[in-house]
Amino acid sequence: MARRKVIIDTDPGIDDAMAIFFALCSPELEVIGLTTIFGNVHTSLATINALRLLEIAGRTDIPVAPGVAAPLASAYKGPVPYVHGEDGQGNTHLPPPASTPLARAAADFIIEQIMAAPGEITLIALGPLTNLALALRQEPRIAQHVREVVLMGGNAFTIGNATPAAEANIHNDPEAADEVFGAPWPVTMVGLDVTHQVIMDSAHLAEYARMNNPMAQHIHRILPVYVELYRLSGGLDGIYIHDSSAVAYVIDPSLFTTTAHPLRVDTSDGISRGKTWASVSQYRTLPPWQNRPPVTICVAVRGAAVVALELERLRHGLA
Ligand code: BDR
Ligand code: CA
Repeated sequence: MARRKVIIDTDPGIDDAMAIFFALCSPELEVIGLTTIFGNVHTSLATINALRLLEIAGRTDIPVAPGVAAPLASAYKGPVPYVHGEDGQGNTHLPPPASTPLARAAADFIIEQIMAAPGEITLIALGPLTNLALALRQEPRIAQHVREVVLMGGNAFTIGNATPAAEANIHNDPEAADEVFGAPWPVTMVGLDVTHQVIMDSAHLAEYARMNNPMAQHIHRILPVYVELYRLSGGLDGIYIHDSSAVAYVIDPSLFTTTAHPLRVDTSDGISRGKTWASVSQYRTLPPWQNRPPVTICVAVRGAAVVALELERLRHGLA
């Protein structure tokens, strides 16, 4: 089986770390690079964390290209230490990485890779979509040459998590997200509509402690901050598997049920900024959604199967 080449754009992030390791342990995927973005932490720390994670995995052969430091049209809202820890990795304060990032910017790396292998590269985006929007602006032909874009973000038919209206990744750069959803490329949105149905409970999480590989051991160490957040905020006995759900979709889309509609992002400065609105009118497409491509939106998921797949892959180790 030929492995599918993926670039993961990421803001690590506890669930980003889980998703990156899940991808590295999956024989269906070949991770050809990580690109970094602000979100859970500043871009500079996201880059350091990406390098650290690849060192833990023993995959320093995979390049890391640093992304931009700020959204397209607004200021970065800043890190979220109460979600992912001061260091984005559950306050484990890992030593500095020995490896270094590429001298190339994330958007340049994305363009080069897609244009060099037309139809082969899948972009998996796990953070705000600024790097993807910049790559599109710089080289619009990537829309024809990418294989697929699968992103964790948004909430079409459910409430937000950063605000009552908006999901965190989209809320961090609504203008970029609106450009990504409007481009003529195949986009799948793995948003809160499904990730709130993918729950690793405390019994699942305890398994990481028993797995004898450095990736699982790292996940075990970084989890407590994230677990505590969900316990305090929602009384959940476990965590939502946001970013890994996007990786699961790329590995096995049959785990998900989808629908397709043009999408717009609220880029106003009102209280709904960052909300993803699907055009669901049966009768006609209203002007804001006219001439916009359909976006594949995940609306249901076999959550237990996603959790089982991720745990099985981590148990097995590097693919
Ligand atoms: C998204 O926001 C971040 O905190 C997570 O890493 C995930 O990408 C969930 O809304
Ligand atoms: Ca993320």
